[in-house]
Amino acid sequence: MTRPAADAASLRYHIETWGCQMNVHDSEKLASALERQGYARAAGIDDADVVLLNTCAIREKAEEKVFSELGRLRGWKGAAAGRVLGVCGCVAKQAGATIFARAPHVDLVVGPRATGSISSAVVRAREAPTALRFLDLEQRSDSIRFPFDEIRREGLGAGKAFVTILEGCNHRCTYCVVPRTRGPEIARPMAEVLAEIRSLAAAGVVEIELLGQTVNAYRDAEGHTLADLLLRAAEIAAVERIRFTTSHPAQMTERLMDAMRDAGPKVCPYLHLPAQSGSSAVLRAMRRGYDRERYLAKIDGLRRRIPGMRFGTDLIVGFPTESDADFGQTLDLLDTVQFDLVYSFAYSERPGTRAVELGDRIDPTTKFERLARLQEHQLSIQERRNRDWVGRTVEVLVEGPSKRGDLRWTGRTAESRIVHFAGPAVPGRFLTLRVTDSTALSLRGEPVSSCA
Ligand code: SAH
Ligand code: SF4
Ligand code: F3S
Repeated sequence: MTRPAADAASLRYHIETWGCQMNVHDSEKLASALERQGYARAAGIDDADVVLLNTCAIREKAEEKVFSELGRLRGWKGAAAGRVLGVCGCVAKQAGATIFARAPHVDLVVGPRATGSISSAVVRAREAPTALRFLDLEQRSDSIRFPFDEIRREGLGAGKAFVTILEGCNHRCTYCVVPRTRGPEIARPMAEVLAEIRSLAAAGVVEIELLGQTVNAYRDAEGHTLADLLLRAAEIAAVERIRFTTSHPAQMTERLMDAMRDAGPKVCPYLHLPAQSGSSAVLRAMRRGYDRERYLAKIDGLRRRIPGMRFGTDLIVGFPTESDADFGQTLDLLDTVQFDLVYSFAYSERPGTRAVELGDRIDPTTKFERLARLQEHQLSIQERRNRDWVGRTVEVLVEGPSKRGDLRWTGRTAESRIVHFAGPAVPGRFLTLRVTDSTALSLRGEPVSSCA
């Protein structure tokens, strides 16, 4: 039984989020579940009665960060009776009950497919402090059917919203914990996804980002695929931009590429397509399901269909079997594809993954040297590519004041280029800017006066 809202009315929650967009969106769902119980958002940790850490287990460092944060929260937890501390997300699933052993002041551990139980977990922790620890690591197949109109969305003011279409992952990349933490793929019915998009559009959202760990593997019980979904979503008049992330190269089908073209310009001409490596031998050891040539064929297929198509990627360096020559192939991939954005990581051995059998063979110095070389190389490419924008006129969706707090505002083009400009402006509105300057990471622009 849930407690009456009045009981929790004066109580406050604080959620800290690490990891991917799936986690960011899950935090929005956690927040709405607590608000339904009557909790209000706290200004920060000190002011909170409930603190949830929504965690990421993708690399060892990410997991360690969680435990050091838990260490810091020991003082907060002990400072007042009745405070509740919870660990959610992928570390909850990856580390499970061992979290209680390493951090005995944690009250609840709730896995990423069990977030539906967060309200009862918090209530129980408050009612039976110290007596009971709550552990829920179930991977429920209904985790994807969250009442979408109750989600407390952060991006609404800026006209943007995430829409989960697929949970979990059916791949078995040898280095990756996600299939363990998030479980097998489960797709939301297309009709429900479209209903959510329509309701967001009615609330003023102009940019939709469809989410899934392998978003292009989407296929609902009726056989609808991402191709169908893009074509249907593009028909919703108020939706101006559609993005989807993250795509798996092996599932970038001809039909999907055709749909990206046929759905028209609402489908943004930027795709995040993680390659992981430029070497076919390493890709095989990673069990990615494609080789270098097939990856490049997908890039070509999209560039042929959609002129001006741009790409971002993820790359791992220092995978156990990666030789100098393999790494050279990855550097070469940067030149060949000309990505706009690259997230690159040093390989981190993860418990429970297949790659553990290979041993963590590449010494840390080599790994980090490779990482630094890759990043330096990519930055010079990005610097050049961004310079090409100078003098051009672009349309951005205004996000808000720049996070740096230096009076600059930020907007994003359809191609996902970040443009800074002198504000103020209206978040969630489109604005035309002339690009005046560029760096490797962003552009700078000034408003083009309109006749409005
Ligand atoms: N579903 C996405 C990736 C999600 S994880 C995909 O298949 O591409 C985000 C990124 O973290 C991955 O693309 C990969 O580059 C990186 N990553 C995953 N496991 C890693 C590990 N063990 N060590 C280093 N980087 C890793
Ligand atoms: Fe991990 Fe591979 Fe699944 Fe991506 S596709 S989440 S890298 S197992
Ligand atoms: Fe991290 Fe889990 Fe996302 S491990 S990257 S939060 S799916």
